[in-house]
This record gives sequence, C-alpha cells and structure tokens, in this order.
Amino acid sequence: MAETTPARVAPENRETWTGNTGFILAAIGSAVGLGNIWRFPGVAYESGGGAFLIPYLVALLTAGIPILFLDYAIGHRYRGAAPLAYRRMKKKAEALGWFQIMLSFIISVYYAAVIAWALSYFVFAFDLRWGEDTAGFFVGEYLQVSDPGVSTTIVSSVAIPLAVVWIAVLVVLALGVAKGVEKVNVIGIPLLGIAFAGLVIRALTLPGAMDGLNAFFTPDWGALLDLDVWIAAYSQIFFSLSIAFGIMVTYASYQRRKANMTSSGLVVAFANSSFELLAGIGVFATLGFLAFRQSVQIDELEGLTGPILSFVTFPAVISEMPGGNIFGAVFFASLVIAGFTSLISILLGVAATVQEKFGLSWRVSAISVSAVCALISFSLFSTTSGLLALDTVDQFANNVGIVLSAIVMSVLVVWVFRRGQLLRSHLNAVSTFHLGNWWLALVGIVAPVFLVIMLVQKLITLVSEGYEGLPGWYVGIFGWGTLAFALVMSAILTALPWKDRDDSAFRPWPELEEENR
Ligand code: PFF
Repeated sequence: MAETTPARVAPENRETWTGNTGFILAAIGSAVGLGNIWRFPGVAYESGGGAFLIPYLVALLTAGIPILFLDYAIGHRYRGAAPLAYRRMKKKAEALGWFQIMLSFIISVYYAAVIAWALSYFVFAFDLRWGEDTAGFFVGEYLQVSDPGVSTTIVSSVAIPLAVVWIAVLVVLALGVAKGVEKVNVIGIPLLGIAFAGLVIRALTLPGAMDGLNAFFTPDWGALLDLDVWIAAYSQIFFSLSIAFGIMVTYASYQRRKANMTSSGLVVAFANSSFELLAGIGVFATLGFLAFRQSVQIDELEGLTGPILSFVTFPAVISEMPGGNIFGAVFFASLVIAGFTSLISILLGVAATVQEKFGLSWRVSAISVSAVCALISFSLFSTTSGLLALDTVDQFANNVGIVLSAIVMSVLVVWVFRRGQLLRSHLNAVSTFHLGNWWLALVGIVAPVFLVIMLVQKLITLVSEGYEGLPGWYVGIFGWGTLAFALVMSAILTALPWKDRDDSAFRPWPELEEENR
C-alpha cells in the first residue's frame, strides 16, 4: 500500500533516473534488442509457428514477469549493481551477482559484433552492395569466415564499425545514468517504434505477405509435446526481457526510492512482447514476399533464423523489393538502435559493479570497462573465426548459463535465504499493482521446477551429442570454457576485498520486518 509507507526516504547520493518514464524507456531499451528482431521470429517459426505462442505466453507469465519482479525487488531494495545488492541481502550471495555480471560481460562482447555488422549493412543498403549471392557476400567477402579454429587475421570491414560501436558505448556510459543511458533511450525507443511500425506496414502491403503470415501463425500443435519447444520459449523470454543477467537488478537500483516498480515491470514486459510479435509479423510478411517472387512455399526458403535471417535472407528480399534501399536502411538502422540500447544496459551493469567493488569514480569505471570489453570484442570477433565463436558462446551462455543463474537465484532467495516474503512486501509497499502469494509460488516453485527440467534436458543433449557437429576441443573452449570462465571469475572476484566501502550505514527502505543478517 503506497499510502501507508513511511514518508522518510533515506538520504543517499546515488544517481537516479529522472523519473518513471525514463526508467521504463531505459528498461524497454534493454529488453527490446537483437533478440526481438533476429531471434524471436526464427525461433517461433521453427518451434511450432502459431502454436509457439502458447509456451511463449506460459513462459512469460510463469517465469518472465515473476523473475523480472524479483530482479527489480532486489535491485530496488538493496540499491546496488548485482554483486553489491545480493551481498546486502545476504553476504554469501555476492558470488551469484558476479556470475550474472560475468555472463553479461561475455554477452556484451559478441552482441557488439552483431551491432557492428548491422551498422555495415546499413551502409551497404544504399547501393545494395551485397549483390546477388547474399550468403556468399556475408560469409565470404564480408566476414571472411575461416574453418573452426582461432584465427588472428583481422577483418577491417568488421573492425571499423566495431570500433564505432565501442566508442559510442564509451561516450554514452561516461555521461552516466540520466544524461547518457536514459537520454539515448528517450530518443532511441520512440524512434525505433516509428521506424519499425513503418517497416511492418510496408511489409504487409507486399504481394505474398499474407502467405507469410499464414506460415508464421499456422499452428503445429504437435510441437507442444516437444520439450525442446518449451526450452526455446523459456530461453527466449529470459534473453528478451534481460532477466537473471544482473542487469535489471542494476537498473532498478537507480530507480528512486519511491517508485511504482511492479506496474513499470508490466509495462516493460508487455511492450517487449508486443514488439517481438510485431517483429514476427514484419519478418514473415517480408518472407512471404520472397517466396512469392521465387514462386516457392515459405517452408522451402532457407536461412530463417539468427544472423542468417538478418544478414543473408533479408538482404536478398531487399534487393528484390521496389524501394528496397530505403526499406533496407530503415531495417538495419532499427537493428542498430535496438541493439545499441541493449548493449549499453549490459555495460552499465558491468561498469556499476566495477565502480562499487573497486571504489572507482563512475567515469574511470565506465571508461575502463568499455575499453577492456572492446579489446576482447576486437580480438575475438573482428577476426575471420568470429561467426562460429559467436554462435557457440551464445548457445552456452544463454541456454545453459542464464537458466542456471535463474534457478540458483530463485532457490537461494526463496528457500535458502528466505527473503521471498520480505521482497514481496517491499514491492507491495512501493507499487500500485500488488503481488499475492501466487508470486512466491511462481518464483519459488513453478519457475525453478520448469527450469531444472529444461536445464537437465539441455545438458544431456550437449554432453551426448555435442554442439552442431563441432570438434570436441572447440566446444570445450568456446562452449564449456565460457561457463567455466564465468564460474571461476565469479569466485575470484567475490574473494577480492571491497575497496573503500563501509556498508554499515546502509538501511534498506522502507523499513520492513527486518532480515536477520
Ligand atoms: N534483451 C536483449 C535482446 O532481446 O536482444 C538482450 C539482452 C540485453 C540480454 C541485456 C541480456 C541483457 F542483460
């Protein structure tokens, strides 16, 4: 009950968003990203088309929104980036915060590479530089992909836009939460909405569009019996809502003390899913046009997922379309904006963590974190072995790492540290949309049970079948190695001392029946 909360707000000098709108736009900016545009349409199509909407909605309601609220509650009550917020909740939980931040750090490094490709393709759209053979152009001429292995040959066509992306990240982060990150979102998100609405309207007026939509929405009910389809739905929701990465914890920690958290969360979650659906409609209307031009059925088209959809199939459609240059430029600009607003959210989380743990100034932390990530991003993804490394890291970080993080988070918070009721009271004290015990049941029972089943199934497949026929040593380094790296680093970073931090004065607000520290 917002009216009955104590009026006094503890003084603190933490920067905040300028208000609820700024926070909501920034959180939508984090959620709406490459995952909505290139991940969702393909995943949905492969996983039962229209029928996929059922596991998708179930995942959103049983795990997505409840865990988003959990992230918000922890960040808003304990006012820190993930490691500090978890530590303030319970000292031993710091390592979980680091694990989440390590996963974010890993994702930022390849996420930036995809934005760099989109930036190049934005320029290529003006003269349709990809030519007739778009697959050959992307893999050969542009990325210069080599065999599985680690190559040190830098591809300048990728390195230059990658440098632009990282310089932009550095500048925005250095400007801070309100003047940098929030401002970019306040401008970028409405712009993205307009651009994307334009694209979808244009796509729907193309010949063949309706066949595309039919292919997208025609349900394959049998898919609902396939566990992999449910796994795909849960992974999509986690990645898309940016939850269990420690990033929404950090975002909520910059929200003012008196802030309507749950209602904002609902706005963010539904805006994200609406955007995702819109992207599905736009992409499939466009593919309907491609099938129409080639006189084939949609299911005979290839390359409907991931990077190939955006960087091979879409350029092919754009070349065939009247006014394709403009459509192409707007499409790739949308990818850049959507991706960039998500990338800065990830880096904000990492920079805030480094700032708090090592007692640095905001600027020094923002600049050093961007510089280190940029360097790693360059060495891994501007070389000729980038594409494959990216795909493998993505698979392990998202389908294993983040699911593990969500399970550990909900089990620790609800069952081990018994903070569920306290966090529920916190959210209810500051918000207008009140959570009942159903929230605890979802976060503490339903979500972890589903997630454990998914994780076990995924691990069995990865151990018994490997990944995409890649050599064992390669999956060992880029796949399992990614997870091992995140785990080991989180143990090391947790063990390091906090610099210049005396937390004894910290009091969670509002004062609720207090936790036994
Ligand atoms: N939600 C983003 C997307 O859908 O592309 C990706 C993302 C952003 C994942 C921030 C994780 C994160 F912390």
